[in-house]
Amino acid sequence: MPVVKRINHVAVVVEDMEKALSFWRDALGIPLHGTLDVPAEKSQVAFLPTGESEIELVKPTSEDSGLAKYLAKRGPGMHHICVEVDDIEGMMAQLKAKNIRLINEEPRTTADGKKYAFIHPESTCGVLVELYQL
Ligand code: CO
Repeated sequence: MPVVKRINHVAVVVEDMEKALSFWRDALGIPLHGTLDVPAEKSQVAFLPTGESEIELVKPTSEDSGLAKYLAKRGPGMHHICVEVDDIEGMMAQLKAKNIRLINEEPRTTADGKKYAFIHPESTCGVLVELYQL
């Protein structure tokens, strides 16, 4: 059976990265670990580690991305929770068997080799959930 290991990150969508950092980094005091452009998702991500997990600030870099549409519709705020699993293919098969709606039918791979996939909020009581396998 695939196992959920931890919350890997919580992602917050922002329209102004510096304004978001003035809260998370400067006021709350979480160190900024780095920022990364993710062309595949048309976004820029800032990583702020908090022990075993991290806060990720995500900002769309193109008007036509899914993230930009989300931001336009709902405004800045919570975007998704990411749970790290030991076996993403196994977990996706388990979810499909339970009629959970997946956004990605197959895992995608980040530039640094992490596998990820999203679960549709329709099946999760309204929260966009990401699966991660390191
Ligand atoms: Co994420």
